[in-house]
Amino acid sequence: MSNAHDERPQQTQAAVSDAVGPTGRPVRTFPDPPELTEHGPARIIAMVNQKGGVGKTTSTINLGAALAELGRKVLLVDFDPQGALSAGFGSNPHELDLTIYNVMMDRSVDVWDVVQQTHVENVDLLPANIDLSAAEVQLVNEVAREQVLASALRKVEDYYDVILIDCQPSLGLLTVNALTASHGVIIPLICEFFALRAVALLVDSISKVQDRINPKLQIDGVLATMFDSRTLHSREVIARIVDAFGDKVFDTVIKRTVKFPDATVAAEPILNFATNHPGAESYRQLARELISRGGAP
Ligand SMILES: Nc1ncnc2c1ncn2[C@@H]1O[C@H](COP(=O)(O)OP(=O)(O)OP(=O)(O)O)[C@@H](O)[C@H]1O
Ligand SMILES: [Mg+2]
Repeated sequence: MSNAHDERPQQTQAAVSDAVGPTGRPVRTFPDPPELTEHGPARIIAMVNQKGGVGKTTSTINLGAALAELGRKVLLVDFDPQGALSAGFGSNPHELDLTIYNVMMDRSVDVWDVVQQTHVENVDLLPANIDLSAAEVQLVNEVAREQVLASALRKVEDYYDVILIDCQPSLGLLTVNALTASHGVIIPLICEFFALRAVALLVDSISKVQDRINPKLQIDGVLATMFDSRTLHSREVIARIVDAFGDKVFDTVIKRTVKFPDATVAAEPILNFATNHPGAESYRQLARELISRGGAP
């Protein structure tokens, strides 16, 4: 797998203002990155947190859509048997004959027969459904069981600029497969105190995968989600997150707003559903910030 993106120099310089953002750092605005003149190989990023309901799927959809707006070719991998990402693009996961499960478990299945175009330009989807829940058990007996997703993606990775893997809320073998296949990890972290407790275990799992299987893996960033600027609680939690992760915390913070669940119901990225909403703008800012950090081409 290519490691080329990891040494990529910063492509864009942020403008720094006098105002202080939710992270306690000066507010930076990230300019649009240069257009890509050619595509691939993809930088692969796992969206991971074993805690449920922290914004993994929402962030996968909207960061993907924002990167696509910047002309990046994006593949979103649904790696949760719940199929929320697939449903988020309007597909009914239960009606699918072929999913990521088949690509992983049956080597005669061609991944290109499973990849779907979405209604969002430059965004493709590798869907999942409940079949994937069987993989957790079946993989235990596979040769190189941690590397099955990595090899399933090998054939498509030259075609895309970014592949985002939406993990299920668990640190089991499927998530280890996602970490093994990835160059980077984004940790969406809900701004609530009890959410912080789960993170130590997650960081420990990431470093085990780094040590034992995938030395190139890096934490690209910690994304604070469902931030409510009106509450002291939210502000205190962000301060704790910054204490723990320092510069790894994205400047971009995702606020809590009902537009996200509304967009989910409409099976649209918020970027399409409410294109001028601050929630859409925050994922555009995240995409530019990720690129400026070298986390995506
Ligand atoms: N910034 C936000 N503000 C308000 N609601 C949000 C926000 N982000 C996500 N949500 C909503 O919170 C719920 C959980 O979000 P999401 O499905 O993205 O989390 P998840 O981490 O993928 O969950 P799971 O672990 O179950 O897969 C969804 O109903 C979603 O619409
Ligand atoms: Mg999810």
